Amino acid sequence: MKIFLDTANVAELREAKSRGSLDGVTTNPSLIAKEKRPFRELAEEICQIVDGPVNLEVNAPTAEGMVEEAGGLITIGKNVVIKVPLTAEGLKAVKILSGQNIRVNVTLCFNATQALFAAKAGASFISPFIGRLDDRGQEGMEVIEEIATIYDNYDIDTEILVASIRSPMHVKDAALIGAHIATMPFNVYDRLLHHPLTDLGLEAFNQAWKTVSE
Ligand code: E4P
Repeated sequence: MKIFLDTANVAELREAKSRGSLDGVTTNPSLIAKEKRPFRELAEEICQIVDGPVNLEVNAPTAEGMVEEAGGLITIGKNVVIKVPLTAEGLKAVKILSGQNIRVNVTLCFNATQALFAAKAGASFISPFIGRLDDRGQEGMEVIEEIATIYDNYDIDTEILVASIRSPMHVKDAALIGAHIATMPFNVYDRLLHHPLTDLGLEAFNQAWKTVSE
């Protein structure tokens, strides 16, 4: 499974890249706003850091506006993927952009039939938001299972990008289902590699090593 960071913070992206486990990045308008930097300059820096897909979201309400915005976004870097919301206008934009061989990630997906329609419109990636479903008392991971089954039934090659991840458990469950990508905030990414037994084991090794002579 590919690991993406869900952030627009360049320090977090550099740290993950140096650990050898950064396959891509997802951003959204809220994450961009948090950085309080001019958008274009920030997006260019992100494209330089990240070798894999850099997901940048359009904000226009109409298909025409989204396509126009996408035209500007793809000039930022070769690895830019356009994020489009799962609305009727969004899907019209997906159809146009995918017809021009521009990769599109359809975002704000909350059920399996939405995911089917996104794939039919030509989405390269679908982003179901599992944490936001969990927040409302619905098991978000069930939607990932359903999408995986439907895509498998019909040999659909749209990649399932599990989004709105809140915990390491979400990442493990997404991998067990066979999702292609999990995107997560840095705090979840960081917690994934820590284990108290690793720290205790290392401490014991360090103590033992002090007693060894050259
Ligand atoms: C994905 O592309 C989104 O940016 C993100 O995962 C949303 O997560 P949130 O529900 O934590 O805001």
